[in-house]
Amino acid sequence: MKKITIAIDGYSSTGKSTIAKQLAKALGYVYVDSGAMYRAVTLYALENGFIGEETNKIQALIKMLPYIKLKFEFNQALGYAEMYLDGKNVEKEIRSLRISEYVSTVAAVSEVRQKLVDIQKNMGKDKGVVMDGRDIGTVVFPDAELKLFMTASPETRAHRRYKELLDRGEDVDFKDVLKNVQNRDYIDSHRVNSPLTKAEGAIEFDNTDMGLQDQFERIRGMALRVI
Ligand code: C5P
Repeated sequence: MKKITIAIDGYSSTGKSTIAKQLAKALGYVYVDSGAMYRAVTLYALENGFIGEETNKIQALIKMLPYIKLKFEFNQALGYAEMYLDGKNVEKEIRSLRISEYVSTVAAVSEVRQKLVDIQKNMGKDKGVVMDGRDIGTVVFPDAELKLFMTASPETRAHRRYKELLDRGEDVDFKDVLKNVQNRDYIDSHRVNSPLTKAEGAIEFDNTDMGLQDQFERIRGMALRVI
């Protein structure tokens, strides 16, 4: 069987990473969560005072970019890779609502994108990869053999994210989660640099009323037809 590249883009909380992980496991491919990289840079920026309620020192963040050490490390028990920032596992921190509130601002910085896109391209150079994000089919792997563009209603997506945050023990308000999902979609789709848009040749996939198993079967079917 030939190895292909699978690019999964779409709006926030459309379940991209859940499907991408399952698909990678079923195909024996590597799964890369590109959003985790933007989230880790955001955590770095917050921890070092480059962004915050009253701070916006993006130029200082840009100067530090070469020194930020990002690494994915495969967790055997979980079956997927976790994000490490400067040698520390930051999986829990980067999924918080606080990071979600700042990540789209950091992700709009072209120098940040350049650094992360280079790493992502390198991770997929041998194919056999499923990567999810916002610009995977448009910028990172425009030649991907299978491209998906995931959508669902904002309320459905906010409910999914809300439940996820509650399950992780975060004390959040549904209204704030919905606002965050809508804000991120707006910034991600309107930024000058690699805005979120359906890539040429991408298959649009609305999963508002679809269960996980059904989604997985359909997408695996699409992948197997290409492979
Ligand atoms: O996928 P996730 O929701 O974790 O991504 C967090 C944020 O990172 C997105 O809202 C977007 O601002 C940014 N992102 C991006 N390009 C990617 C992946 C994520 O701009 N390829």
